[in-house]
Amino acid sequence: MVSSSSVQTTHAGPARRALRTAILAGLALFVSYTALKALGSPWAVDDFPEALAIKAELMPVIFPLHMISGGLALVLVPLALLARRWPRWHKLAGRIAAADVAVAGLTAFPVALIAPVTWGSALGFSAQGAVWLGLLALGIANIRRRRPAAHRAAMLLMAATTSGAVFFRVYLALYAMIGGFRHYELFYAFDAWIAWSLPLLAMAIWLKRSGASPFDPR
Ligand code: HEM
Repeated sequence: MVSSSSVQTTHAGPARRALRTAILAGLALFVSYTALKALGSPWAVDDFPEALAIKAELMPVIFPLHMISGGLALVLVPLALLARRWPRWHKLAGRIAAADVAVAGLTAFPVALIAPVTWGSALGFSAQGAVWLGLLALGIANIRRRRPAAHRAAMLLMAATTSGAVFFRVYLALYAMIGGFRHYELFYAFDAWIAWSLPLLAMAIWLKRSGASPFDPR
């Protein structure tokens, strides 16, 4: 006789897989939507809030370059991670993603620091850019020294930092919906710090628990 608990266990596997697939599909759709919006942004600066329109006027090349390379990073970084089972494709996707992240990360500094929306947000974005580029450099150095485990850990941390661009917009939209525009600038600055540091912290904890480290000499 089959007990009810064993029936539950039999169904838990496929149900959990279906839920995981649904969550991943939802996330992929949302990230693609943010990437598409970012890629269209250079042609929509007239709709920007004034604080960002000023930046677009002051940096007519650097700001659009940041928006395009940033939008592409949201597609290229996951692609490089997904291609890791096929070394040749992973190498190609990884090189393109790394070059793109270097452009998006370097352009983030002038975009943050010239005519800052607030100094709190400018410093938060600059810290994110520095961490992003630092992890990219560490990931590249690790693979050059043939340390695949450390390379993987550094790149997962870099991907978590990239996700900050999506969380930043999600939190901002939620704040506008729930909190209206009271203390908006304060929240904007707070968001510029938590949007990337929380997923980075979550990834660091997960890696530590699974015994991985970007400084692993393996
Ligand atoms: C991860 C490192 C990144 C940093 C440090 C960074 C920094 C910045 C900064 C400072 C601004 C101007 C906003 C302000 O000064 O308040 C900005 C705007 C923008 N960034 Fe990034 N960015 C990063 C990644 C990305 C990514 C991955 C995307 C892809 C969606 C992106 C797309 C954009 C777009 C479209 C804007 C124009 C305004 C807006 O839509 O919010 N950036 N970024």
